[in-house]
Amino acid sequence: MTNQFFVAVIGAGPAGLFGARELANLGARVVLFNRDIKPGGLAEYGIYPNKHIMKNGLRKQFRQVMDLPNLDYYGNVTIGAQGDLTLDDLRALGFQAILVTAGAQGTKWLGLPGENLEGVYHAKDVVYFYNNLPPYSQKKFFFGKRCAVIGAGNVMLDITHYLSREEKVDEVIAVVRRGPAEIKFDKKEMEYVIDSLNQAALDSEIKRVTPIMEAVHQDPAAARASILVALPKALPKISDTKFRFEFLASPVQMIGDENGKLKQVELEDNILVEAKGDTKAKGTGRKRLLDVETVIFAIGDKVDDTFGLPVEWNEFVKNQSPRFPIDGISYESPFEDVFVGGWSRQASSGLVGYARKDGTNASKAVWQYLQTKQPVEANTAAVLAKLKALGKPIVVKDDIKRLEAIETAEAQKRGVEAFKFNNNDEMLQVMGLKETV
Ligand SMILES: Cc1cc2nc3c(=O)[nH]c(=O)nc-3n(C[C@H](O)[C@H](O)[C@H](O)COP(=O)(O)OP(=O)(O)OC[C@H]3O[C@@H](n4cnc5c(N)ncnc54)[C@H](O)[C@@H]3O)c2cc1C
Ligand SMILES: NC(=O)c1ccc[n+]([C@@H]2O[C@H](COP(=O)([O-])OP(=O)(O)OC[C@H]3O[C@@H](n4cnc5c(N)ncnc54)[C@H](OP(=O)(O)O)[C@@H]3O)[C@@H](O)[C@H]2O)c1
Repeated sequence: MTNQFFVAVIGAGPAGLFGARELANLGARVVLFNRDIKPGGLAEYGIYPNKHIMKNGLRKQFRQVMDLPNLDYYGNVTIGAQGDLTLDDLRALGFQAILVTAGAQGTKWLGLPGENLEGVYHAKDVVYFYNNLPPYSQKKFFFGKRCAVIGAGNVMLDITHYLSREEKVDEVIAVVRRGPAEIKFDKKEMEYVIDSLNQAALDSEIKRVTPIMEAVHQDPAAARASILVALPKALPKISDTKFRFEFLASPVQMIGDENGKLKQVELEDNILVEAKGDTKAKGTGRKRLLDVETVIFAIGDKVDDTFGLPVEWNEFVKNQSPRFPIDGISYESPFEDVFVGGWSRQASSGLVGYARKDGTNASKAVWQYLQTKQPVEANTAAVLAKLKALGKPIVVKDDIKRLEAIETAEAQKRGVEAFKFNNNDEMLQVMGLKETV
């Protein structure tokens, strides 16, 4: 057996898959560990379910990565301080470098009163739910008649899309801490929901915040136009949902009834202040109540702070003086053999294409680090033995092929574009990794 560099990649989202491909193509022996049974990460379980063309195109590319001969895939395996294997376990198995591409799995709690009430959720959980990712797919969510979604990014619009076109709630209110000039979403995503937009409410909101915008030299008419630019391509609405914005407002607490169910969110009005060429929201102290049964925070996520790497703010700590920077970026954790890429490097940042580039560049940094080591005889059998000793079903490449074939056949049988099992037991059973009870 020829000696090779032996690398563990943790997380099979776009960053991990393309990062693993880069390393495998450079000649490393790569083992890809994934928490979920299936590869894909948010491309599989985040991107809106009906974006079939995009999802299928990505799946095709992921399959090519999975087919690489010098890459092993182990799904249903969580790595981390509280996982199935720790980083030290991986080191003991002989891995010379570890690339963490586990996404941003933590929750950005704001520490507001009432965050634990029924009806208060974070977007990632909701998105995983409607994308059929176990165990979120089995959890109960309560989407009331009036729902507030906090944030003004594409995730806010995806949630609004789901609430208006699937749950068909009465009203969705996007609560935005800054103003109409600071929205982060794309026109394309607005096309799905703009037919539900209450334009009269938008106009009165713009009028209300005009003095605050003008105080920081913003143009309210231009901001209004950029929100409405999707109108010519509006998807015809299929529900009576009314969608509106509340600008310059931040939630300060959620208020429940005697049964612990959300009934109101208290908002504080903000003004805008200029800050280093940008703006910041500043609370005015003026508060008001909004009657809602559901609040969903779509404000981005943080990395998993139980993983076993130091975390600062919402991200894993990076070595500020990297030995192997790529395009001036540090992909290095404080541990010399542990690297970070994709949303594990920069939480909730960018599209799939960006995660792909970031994972690839992270691997370039890993490869440069490996040049300071000697190749080894990669003991892949010991890895498999260690995983088998966990006493749980371990999913390998051929299992995924079988699962995909079964799901495709099921979709054809049902006459739908895509079918996904929504619980691990069923997936494991059809792959023959768990007995039917
Ligand atoms: C709601 C939503 C919709 C989106 N829609 C689009 C879109 O339409 N178009 C677009 O281009 N981009 C979209 N994006 C962005 C895109 O999904 C991300 O840029 C990309 O998926 C990030 O890739 P990643 O590999 O860094 O992380 P992720 O995709 O999150 O992948 C992380 C992987 O790590 C695994 N993992 C996690 N923890 C562990 C652990 N401890 N051990 C082992 N494995 C672990 C997970 O199982 C997962 O497979 C969307 C994002 C969201 C949140
Ligand atoms: N269809 C798609 O293409 C698609 C779909 C979903 C996601 N994505 C991508 O995935 C990435 C993440 O999306 P995202 O929507 O989560 O992030 P995002 O675009 O950064 O938007 C986050 C929003 O939350 C607000 N926010 C952050 N912290 C807050 C707080 N403490 N209180 C109140 N509001 C707060 C932000 O306001 P400020 O601006 O004031 O910070 C912003 O409006 C983005 O790159 C996005 O484009 C793409």
